[in-house]
Amino acid sequence: MTTAERTRQIYERHPYPAANLAEIARKGRAIPPLKWLQAIGRPGRPRPERVLVAGCGTGAEAFVMRRRLPKAEIVAVDFSPRSIALARRLQRTIGVREPITFLVADLTNRDLARQTGGNFDLITCHGVLSYLPDPQPALIGFAACLRPGGALYLGVNGEAHPATRLRPWLASFGFATHELRNERRLRELLGLWDSLHDGESGEFARKSTSYLAGDVCGPHFNNWPLSRWRAAAHRCGWELAGTALLPLALRLTMDGDHHRQLFPAGIGELAERLDLTRPASFHKLLLRRAAPGSLDIFLTGGRPVPLRWSGLYSVHFPRAKADQKTQATFHCPTFNLRFDCPLTRRQAEALRTFIETGTASPSWLRHWGQSEAARRILWLWAGLGVVTPDILAAESNA
Ligand SMILES: C[S@@+](CC[C@H](N)C(=O)[O-])C[C@H]1O[C@@H](n2cnc3c(N)ncnc32)[C@H](O)[C@@H]1O
Repeated sequence: MTTAERTRQIYERHPYPAANLAEIARKGRAIPPLKWLQAIGRPGRPRPERVLVAGCGTGAEAFVMRRRLPKAEIVAVDFSPRSIALARRLQRTIGVREPITFLVADLTNRDLARQTGGNFDLITCHGVLSYLPDPQPALIGFAACLRPGGALYLGVNGEAHPATRLRPWLASFGFATHELRNERRLRELLGLWDSLHDGESGEFARKSTSYLAGDVCGPHFNNWPLSRWRAAAHRCGWELAGTALLPLALRLTMDGDHHRQLFPAGIGELAERLDLTRPASFHKLLLRRAAPGSLDIFLTGGRPVPLRWSGLYSVHFPRAKADQKTQATFHCPTFNLRFDCPLTRRQAEALRTFIETGTASPSWLRHWGQSEAARRILWLWAGLGVVTPDILAAESNA
């Protein structure tokens, strides 16, 4: 039996998540806000009309997307027939007004675009690629399923995922982790683990059977640092547009101006460096089809990339005297972030224009200034998700 077949067998035995309404509510918190997916993944584009939920399990992720996008066509696929049967049953129980199309399909199948109808504006794939022996065929298949201007959200395990340490630790007791066989013994050992960890990574002994079967036991895990996920995606033509952690991590570096040490790394490099410093247990990545480096403002040399105002932040401008700097306050309710940014009077005026028009053309960028300090402000805003490169405008201007 191949590793993929063993993985499928696990989800046939233990469909994930346990098919109930509480799981749907929990998943609502796990999937990043639609506002961020749209602002950074599909800047300037209308709400997604077609969404693919790739590796949907018993449907919780798809039901979350349905709540957020009541009118969109949603197709949700999984290679576990039992999970799909449970998702369909749950859909009948809930009574979804615009039904989701649940299909049995393998994400690594070359025919995925035909099977699903393709032409998606957004693909979400949460907690799936970490268990594929080779995520590359799925990443290539997703590209074939996407409309121009579409985005891919990937939720994948990081190096600090608890299973990275848990699995060898369990093995040291002679416990076989490739498959959940002896649940009672596993819970006993996890009780010991929990007692030594003071609840810092959650109480494993109390997790659901389906979590233990797939997230602790299982034949294969890709608990990778961001650099490895980014490289794998890059090989399939994907560029990292943002991570859910980046704005928060970057904001932490701003107290004491430590962020200056990171300038002028591009978004991907920046996120990788922060992940090296403080490895994530789970990455929430937003990817776009783009030429290498085209999402890295000011780094590609030559012409500056046009920018878009993401709409994730509101800006408060206090009154300032004619010759004084303005301390503008930025606030992002989506990530609960706040920071102050000193601006010259000219920059404050330019910023108002940018917010009003929603875009910053190359001539706006020239007006803003090309000094290192001026470029660093825009770079910081890009990392925080205040602005995002407008590659579609760049392509149509070219
Ligand atoms: C941990 S569950 C995540 C389910 C859902 N995305 C969520 O977050 O609630 C992983 C799911 O991926 C599915 N899966 C794994 N490999 C797959 C593949 N090659 N094709 C389709 N589904 C796959 C499994 O059957 C399982 O239902």
